[in-house]
Amino acid sequence: MKPLNLCVIPGDGVGREVIPCAVEVLQRVTANLNLVQADAGWDCFTRTGNALPDATLSAIESCGAALFGAVSSPSRKVEGYRSPIVQMRQHFDLYANLRPTRELNAADGVRRISGAPIDLLIARENTQGLYIGREYMRGEEAIAERVITKSASERIARVAFELANGRPRKQLTIVHKANILPITDGRFRDCARAVGVDFPAVTINELLVDTAAMLLASRPQQFDVIVTTNLFGDILSDVASVWGGGMGVAPALNIGRGVAIAEPVHGSAPDIAGKGIANPSGAILSAALLLRYHWHMSEEADRVESAVYAAIDQGLRTADMGGQASTRALTDRILSLL
Ligand code: NAI
Ligand code: MG
Repeated sequence: MKPLNLCVIPGDGVGREVIPCAVEVLQRVTANLNLVQADAGWDCFTRTGNALPDATLSAIESCGAALFGAVSSPSRKVEGYRSPIVQMRQHFDLYANLRPTRELNAADGVRRISGAPIDLLIARENTQGLYIGREYMRGEEAIAERVITKSASERIARVAFELANGRPRKQLTIVHKANILPITDGRFRDCARAVGVDFPAVTINELLVDTAAMLLASRPQQFDVIVTTNLFGDILSDVASVWGGGMGVAPALNIGRGVAIAEPVHGSAPDIAGKGIANPSGAILSAALLLRYHWHMSEEADRVESAVYAAIDQGLRTADMGGQASTRALTDRILSLL
């Protein structure tokens, strides 16, 4: 079998605890996994003056796939520091961020709502919007620019339609704020609708982002695939993650022109880092997204996802899911189920 090359970037905080667990799981379900360790993040910045060394970028490039943990970013401006994940997305043109949420069977702790189980996927535009980081002062006005282009809107829409087309319900919801931002969000919506012409089997809906947030909090089971701009996708996926067991469970995959970077949605969780209690599920489910969408190993992806959900169902819950299991105990159960 052809080797699978994976660049492993644990980063800061709990990233260093959960990424090794995800690697163990990948080793269990694949043959011939070739690992390359690389550095990035705040700790790397304080040691080397660079949060994302060139060696890390070349390692990702040559592997074609990476598993990234999380980094700590200061919320004040630090000269020379930029969030490495945002840089990686731009550098490799990772224009789609896939963030699925699947409802947990609630043995305890996790809320459950009646009706069909929640199984939704947010396709977040990953390269522009407010994340271009163009902020400046003009007199007393603090200004942030938000850029939406036709080409970026069309390519994220195409990814979302392809995903929706491959799912049983074949529904796509375009989320925007075109009533207030007709030039930018109106364009995003129109581009998405235009791409939809190529996918006649997919039912298209659209929602304003505030309504979408309300419905994700009240009737999440009605959603299948959501496509939206960068910041809205960031926020809505955190709302959705509550139904899937919370931030510790939520996975993500950045894809674009070939390179893929899997990363749990959560950050470095400094409040719990180093205690051995971080939830490894988000990192492991992110590795499953790499298997499914990058390496096209859907059978292995299914096995990993089933093992994670089964272990949680069996009561192996870390503190964030209302239990007492350690990172190690939950990982060991997942490995044994594999
Ligand atoms: P966070 O996601 O690190 O933590 C939010 C809450 O979720 C905390 O209560 C934390 O304990 C909990 N949590 C997160 N991951 C968990 C896990 N695996 N298991 C159990 N509980 C978990 O977000 P926060 O606190 O806003 O940010 C902390 C740092 O992380 C900041 O420096 C921020 O810039 C960075 N960050 C990095 C991201 C990335 O690298 N992709 C994404 C989000 C935040
Ligand atoms: Mg976020």
